[in-house]
Amino acid sequence: MALTVTPLDNVGVEVSGFDITQPIDDDLAAELVSLWNEHGILLFRGQDVTPENQIAFSRVFGELEIHPLSETRSQEYPELFTLVNDPEKEKYLVANYNGKPMAGKLDWHIDLHYTGKPNRGALLHGVVCAQEDGMTGFGDLAKAYDALDDDTKALLEKIEVTYTFSMQRRHMRYVDLEGYEPGAYSPRKPSDINYPNFPEVAYPAVVTHPVTGRKVLEVVEQFLERIIAPHRAGLSNDEAIELLERLVAHTRKPEFHYFHQWQPGDMVLWDNWRAMHCATGTKPGMQRVIHRTTIMGDATLGRVLEA
Ligand code: OGA
Ligand code: MN
Repeated sequence: MALTVTPLDNVGVEVSGFDITQPIDDDLAAELVSLWNEHGILLFRGQDVTPENQIAFSRVFGELEIHPLSETRSQEYPELFTLVNDPEKEKYLVANYNGKPMAGKLDWHIDLHYTGKPNRGALLHGVVCAQEDGMTGFGDLAKAYDALDDDTKALLEKIEVTYTFSMQRRHMRYVDLEGYEPGAYSPRKPSDINYPNFPEVAYPAVVTHPVTGRKVLEVVEQFLERIIAPHRAGLSNDEAIELLERLVAHTRKPEFHYFHQWQPGDMVLWDNWRAMHCATGTKPGMQRVIHRTTIMGDATLGRVLEA
């Protein structure tokens, strides 16, 4: 097959040499899936992407998820979810960073991490791209795991970490709150934006990827709360907090990251069981439209903590 695979900065690859407007045969599909499993983050540029061919292309990687909220779903294409900066909705997403208002900035996260059952992956297609900022960052947590020293790896085998869903960024323990101020319309509780409340969830600190068998560091700053019963791994509570601080700092190293600056027609597919992602946000009022398809997956990586 004539696919060309070019490494991106640090992690992930760009894949070219096929045409999304043409049917994807079994051999090409198998090659694309194997590249996704091998690299975790795939970039495709310059394709002529319509909603129909985005949906068909995404199905190569698995069954697609239909967004649970009917008002967010596109009527015509229920598999397509539109991420759009529009002035009315955007105001809930504006917060201040070092005195500057930013819309849609998101900390490093894994989609649906707080449910215990993250979806397998997602594909974003840049439709209208912000003139400035608006980047999406991807971080490879399999490579982050591999780079840990042996003592830390052995310790992590004995540890479970918890995630607590929250609407208020200032309640998150491991995000960088320096210079942060919520916006006037930042939601304070899930019901403010018609969200349910999610119970706490726990994950092994190292998850074995259900498809590839690779070990993935399951420590990501957004919603990260604590290590369960740290004394069982020989840690004091203070050592447990310092370990999470050290691991979060590790995941923030640029050597595990690729930041994508969007051009119309770009698509990025990531493995949500392996890679975290973040959004740099834009100045309020900046136009940005991204079409998203979500690949379901049938494994459960974490567990809900019942009372
Ligand atoms: C997402 C997401 C980031 C972005 O779609 O889950 O986090 O840059 N998007 O839009
Ligand atoms: Mn996300």
